[in-house]
Amino acid sequence: MEHLLAPTPPMGWNSWNTFSWNINEELIRTTADKFVECGLKDAGYEYIVIDDCWSLRERDENGRLVPDPEKFPNGMKAVADYIHAKGLKFGMYSCAGTHTCAGYPGSFEHEFIDAATFAEWGVDYLKYDYCYKPATADGANLYRRMAMALRNCGRDIVFSACNWGADDVHGWIRSSGAQLFRSTGDIQDKWESIKALAESQMDKAPYGGAYCHNDMDMLVVGMYGRSCNTWIAEKIGGCSDAEYRTHFALWSIMGSPLMIGCDIRDMTPATADILMNRDVIAINQDKECRSFYRVNQWNNPKNIFTLVRALSNGDYAVGMFNFGEHPGEMSLEFFDIGLPYASGMALEFYDCYQHKVVGTFKERYSTNVEPHDSLMFRVKLVK
Ligand code: GLA
Repeated sequence: MEHLLAPTPPMGWNSWNTFSWNINEELIRTTADKFVECGLKDAGYEYIVIDDCWSLRERDENGRLVPDPEKFPNGMKAVADYIHAKGLKFGMYSCAGTHTCAGYPGSFEHEFIDAATFAEWGVDYLKYDYCYKPATADGANLYRRMAMALRNCGRDIVFSACNWGADDVHGWIRSSGAQLFRSTGDIQDKWESIKALAESQMDKAPYGGAYCHNDMDMLVVGMYGRSCNTWIAEKIGGCSDAEYRTHFALWSIMGSPLMIGCDIRDMTPATADILMNRDVIAINQDKECRSFYRVNQWNNPKNIFTLVRALSNGDYAVGMFNFGEHPGEMSLEFFDIGLPYASGMALEFYDCYQHKVVGTFKERYSTNVEPHDSLMFRVKLVK
């Protein structure tokens, strides 16, 4: 079987951010229903992923993982069938260590039997965590093991490695066979967390790319501080819509997978607009998956900057960000992105938030960016 999985960053929903341990079959079914009804499927979202806390605390007598019958009374095959009938894909979760982060059985030394079980249940995506890794075991080798098991289990299963950026994972994960790799600690539903995770990956641009994407963690867009997991919500957590929009723009242009973490059954219109912004999604899903580069505002380089990404049709994605606390100017000089004035060419700016062309500019584009806010353009070279 050929493994041409996840050429572009996977898009979907994951149960952890909002529901953590509070998951069950009904939640997953209604989420799948809503996924189709509210347009997420049409916008390109595909995977519905059950995170930690789905199994019993012990394996069965044959050493197999057992879904918790109270949470999933019909077993996982039934859940998979339901999701597949909607034209969606089904993801599950396990761990490279002896236990998952929440203390359920992990796949350490059970990699091949678990891969076979997931394949039997109809799983299409496996998130694979790093808790309770024996100190003497080599992390890279544990991801190689599960990759080998999945790549030969008879079913296409996207392998989502989740070791939080430990052990310089960006240097070895592509060679293991995984399709995405978590490069950050866990996100929290607050601006400081979004900003810190984005900053931590600015120098990792060269490592992601087609077939093995840098996963900056699941989105908190639309959570507004609601989660049964108070650590994620931080009780007083939650962001403004501008902050969520910036979060989505960053993850998109930086090439991260887009895994929704809010309760999609009651999204606000603003949340739906952010998550289903087709122009921003198109930048994230550009076939070439080129890495981005950064151009700083000369008089405020730490806080105000532009990320640029070459797109496969010759256009460029241009995201302007303000990580500071005050409104500020971002003046993008076109020679900094490869366009000398002497060329006589100009750039046409299409605004991905307003969905329209805002003008054609020579030499530079100057604008103000509000604190924690962003602008996202798709620019085209014109005569
Ligand atoms: C780790 C991961 C999270 C989530 C939890 C589940 O913290 O990084 O994304 O999967 O485990 O326990």
